[in-house]
Amino acid sequence: MENTALLVYAREDIEKNRWFIGRLTDLAAERGTKLQLITPGDAREFFSCVTDHPAYVINRSRNAEISRAFEASGIPSFNNPDTILLGNDKLLEYGFFRGAGLPVMDTVCGDTEEERIAFDPPFVVKHRRGHGGSRVFLAGSFAEALRIMNGTDRSEWIVQKMCDEPGCDLRLYILGGRILAGVLRRSEGDFRSNFSLGGKAELFTPDPVICGQALKISEYLDADYIGIDLIRDGGRFVFNEIEDAVGARMLYEVSDLDPAALFMDHIYEKTFQIAENGIK
Ligand SMILES: Nc1ncnc2c1ncn2[C@@H]1O[C@H](COP(=O)(O)OP(=O)(O)O)[C@@H](O)[C@H]1O
Ligand SMILES: [Mg+2]
Repeated sequence: MENTALLVYAREDIEKNRWFIGRLTDLAAERGTKLQLITPGDAREFFSCVTDHPAYVINRSRNAEISRAFEASGIPSFNNPDTILLGNDKLLEYGFFRGAGLPVMDTVCGDTEEERIAFDPPFVVKHRRGHGGSRVFLAGSFAEALRIMNGTDRSEWIVQKMCDEPGCDLRLYILGGRILAGVLRRSEGDFRSNFSLGGKAELFTPDPVICGQALKISEYLDADYIGIDLIRDGGRFVFNEIEDAVGARMLYEVSDLDPAALFMDHIYEKTFQIAENGIK
């Protein structure tokens, strides 16, 4: 009998991810699974459904609570709720990296007063839940940082020291506890190197220390498919963020890898193990 599984995307992200959604759907179909695309608003009706219990959920909506509810009903979520929660909050990520003793840029919460900030401008002001570079701004002064956050809850932002090699970053793609690839992204006109903003990408092999640290993070979170992004400062890489709903576009462009297929292989392997042993 055909089984079902769910793929969750925020409505506004569906169009730009059509290709990836189609690829995941086809790969699931090859394994006899009907992968149903839903939005977070639709999720509730599936939490405790007794009939047609979905085999698994791929949650790309950045909403950890949905995954928490699915896992409470015994339905495994990719990624798991803790990874989704951490990977979508830049202040939590900063605390997590620091707590693990990893190099980071000095950062304070956006509601910190100027006299308590121990680093000098320029500041990089980021919304805690932004992605794709869309809510990342440069501020030449504290007054400018305040203007950027004006009219919003300042505790929803972070203010960060600017790194000394802006315009480039390194993404490590980690799938099932293995580094798939490293990709160096550079931009010419912008301090932000996001691929979606026109950054150029090339494959890059980082040194084993960085790889080992990134793998430890993935292992600690029991993450399924994440990106770990690093920026350059003081001649070394420092940890910038964990990307939970990590894309695949850049990897398809610069390598022969098929991350969607590898992701599905991982999901089926792990779902099978969970069916035997339960969610950890
Ligand atoms: N502290 C910083 N100093 C200089 N550039 C930065 C800093 N933080 C981020 N950037 C640049 O801005 C880009 C977007 O910031 P990032 O924190 O990755 O947010 P997003 O989640 O929106 O991608 C990064 O890829 C990097 O190129
Ligand atoms: Mg980023």
